[in-house]
Amino acid sequence: MKKLRLGINIDHVATIRNARGGVHPDPLRAARIAEAAGADGITAHLREDRRHISDGDITRLAKELTIPLNFEMAATKEMLDIALSHKPHASCLVPEKREERTTEGGLDVAGGHNTLQYYVESLKGSGIRVSLFIEADPRQIEASHRLGADIVEIHTGAYCDADDPAQRQAEFDRIQKAAALAEEFGLECHAGHGLTYGTVSPIAAIPTIVELNIGHFLIGEAIFSGLEPAMLKMRKLMDDARQAVA
Ligand code: PXP
Repeated sequence: MKKLRLGINIDHVATIRNARGGVHPDPLRAARIAEAAGADGITAHLREDRRHISDGDITRLAKELTIPLNFEMAATKEMLDIALSHKPHASCLVPEKREERTTEGGLDVAGGHNTLQYYVESLKGSGIRVSLFIEADPRQIEASHRLGADIVEIHTGAYCDADDPAQRQAEFDRIQKAAALAEEFGLECHAGHGLTYGTVSPIAAIPTIVELNIGHFLIGEAIFSGLEPAMLKMRKLMDDARQAVA
């Protein structure tokens, strides 16, 4: 079975820093701790309004990390120019709305084919792997394949937020099917958003998913346990779930 990678999203280290406007806590320091504790990658989302990660953070992360940087970005000219100047390992295109608290849904790749094509081609042409953040919807997977994406990242928010067990199961089934379809299309499949110690195991057990990107919950847990123990606990849950189905 494919190895399950863990990418750490450090956006909310920057959220805490920005609450006081200074330099502490430093997202790069968090990234280095995650790197030393065995993270497979670092994810950072430079939003249009710069509410957490800053341009300077991206510059330092791109320069100093020794593990892959997954640069989350909206499909805009401004973000494309930043990506092309730093050449991260991968860019994950996400929908972005100024008024949302977090990335609420996936990209409409099926409906927005022509708009996204320019961004996918420009990034790929510059040697950056392209990931599209989408809902677990077969139409979006098929459209991502058509567009030439390397990776799809499946939004796990609806699965994590479902209180009702039947609804959570239905969301899980959609994710599992979407991940299998992604593999059939030759797309690398990632997943993330809202994952916690309580929700990660079933997702980690889906054999066609190769990477989970986790941020908010882990940064919150780090307040109580430290970042390295929180990350190692998440990693163990992922590995145990994977082993149980191997
Ligand atoms: N993957 C993508 C594409 C995201 O936009 C986010 C949130 O920024 C995450 C993963 C991580 O989600 P969370 O912070 O809820 O763990």
